[in-house]
Amino acid sequence: MNTGSKNTIAVVLAAGKGTRMKSSTPKVLHEIFNIPLLGWVLKSLGDIESVIVTGSGRELVEAYLEDKNVKTAYQAEQLGTGHALSCAVSQIPDDFSGNILVLCGDTPLITNETLTSFIKYHNREESPLSVMTSILDNPYGYGRIVRDGFGCISKIVEQKDCTQEQAEINEINTGVYLLNYKLIVPLLSEIKNNNNQGEYYLTDIISLAVKHGLKPSAYCIKNFEEVFGVNSKQDLAAAFKIMNARHIDYLMTKGVTVCDPNNTYISPETEIEADTIVLPSCYIENKNYIASGCKIGPMAHLRGNCTIGEGCKIGNFVELKNATVKPHTNIAHLTYVGDAEIGSNVNIGAGTIFANYNSVTKEKKKSYLADGVSIGSNSVLVAPVELGENAFVAAGTVVTKSAEENSLVITRAPQKEIKNWIRSKK
Ligand code: UD1
Ligand code: CA
Repeated sequence: MNTGSKNTIAVVLAAGKGTRMKSSTPKVLHEIFNIPLLGWVLKSLGDIESVIVTGSGRELVEAYLEDKNVKTAYQAEQLGTGHALSCAVSQIPDDFSGNILVLCGDTPLITNETLTSFIKYHNREESPLSVMTSILDNPYGYGRIVRDGFGCISKIVEQKDCTQEQAEINEINTGVYLLNYKLIVPLLSEIKNNNNQGEYYLTDIISLAVKHGLKPSAYCIKNFEEVFGVNSKQDLAAAFKIMNARHIDYLMTKGVTVCDPNNTYISPETEIEADTIVLPSCYIENKNYIASGCKIGPMAHLRGNCTIGEGCKIGNFVELKNATVKPHTNIAHLTYVGDAEIGSNVNIGAGTIFANYNSVTKEKKKSYLADGVSIGSNSVLVAPVELGENAFVAAGTVVTKSAEENSLVITRAPQKEIKNWIRSKK
């Protein structure tokens, strides 16, 4: 992230229990396309320094964060969002004079662009405290933004504390804030828990700022989807759907043909070039790169770390993992390719298996197929094997040794014909 992010430290609130998930896994570790909700939030933060507040399921959350280059702060008891933020203060340098960006660990759809614009807005306004808000048709459940006679934000009222009149306000608190560390953090100690939930609400910081003569501002975003919070398994499925749709829309905008977006699943980590066609029921997870002019599917499964060159065909019931496929190669039917480097103009027949895993030694081995190789149907390639240019593997072969260019490889038992065999049985 650029403008203004240098003097920003993010605090991600992730200590809540997530009771409604009904799960032994902490809420923020539930995954969308194999990345935890919290991981998506961290991605949106780019290179902003962050402190993650952990609590429920602390060990698991901290284990996940171990290699993420973030600090963590522990909130032993979940006394509310205001209390959670004060727990993070110990991890922020005393002489810090920038802004704190507060967001929640359960909003995986927030984007770097929106956070960047929010930071720019906050800096331009020279605001001591900015709240990201949105207008909802059905604001039920959210904190409401209360404005004074001049249209300035004066406080946030939680659903459970709303008067009938306040409940009709459509502008809601998204739970994303930017606050001037030096001016606002000292006010955290003034937050009280005299509300209907007996919690220390971070939202009370707004009226406290006003009381101290500091004018908060509100940054209203149009795309509410971005701050959609995941609280239940239903929400998790909804967030998955939105994230998938958003990425497929991006791919279509750049020229990828997706025949049936509602029945196609492509991780945002996968990049696909224009003029590739993705047929229905493909599941493409993790990081992959697919060049242009390919035909993928129907019903293909790319599991990650795959690079597919131009003009390839990856057909039905083909599973690929950790594979590089050079241009104009066909892997058209019922095949598993794991841990392989495959040249260009290769043809892999139906029902080919790359046996890459030894379940005794637990080792995975790689295979190499040079340009022009042809694999006959129902063959097994027991890794590691290396096949030279234009090598030809006959159908039904179990390849256990490498072979030179232009060779025929065949392990087939000779065909026998026993004449009149049927009659002799009668
Ligand atoms: C909060 C806001 C509400 C806003 C909504 C937006 C408050 C009081 N209310 O409500 O105005 O409209 O978010 O989604 O802030 N957490 C902790 N420690 C705690 C409590 C919560 O870390 O003690 C974390 C949770 O893990 C979660 C986040 O803070 O990631 C928000 O908490 P949650 O209980 O979901 O707040 P909401 O009721 O959604
Ligand atoms: Ca929430």
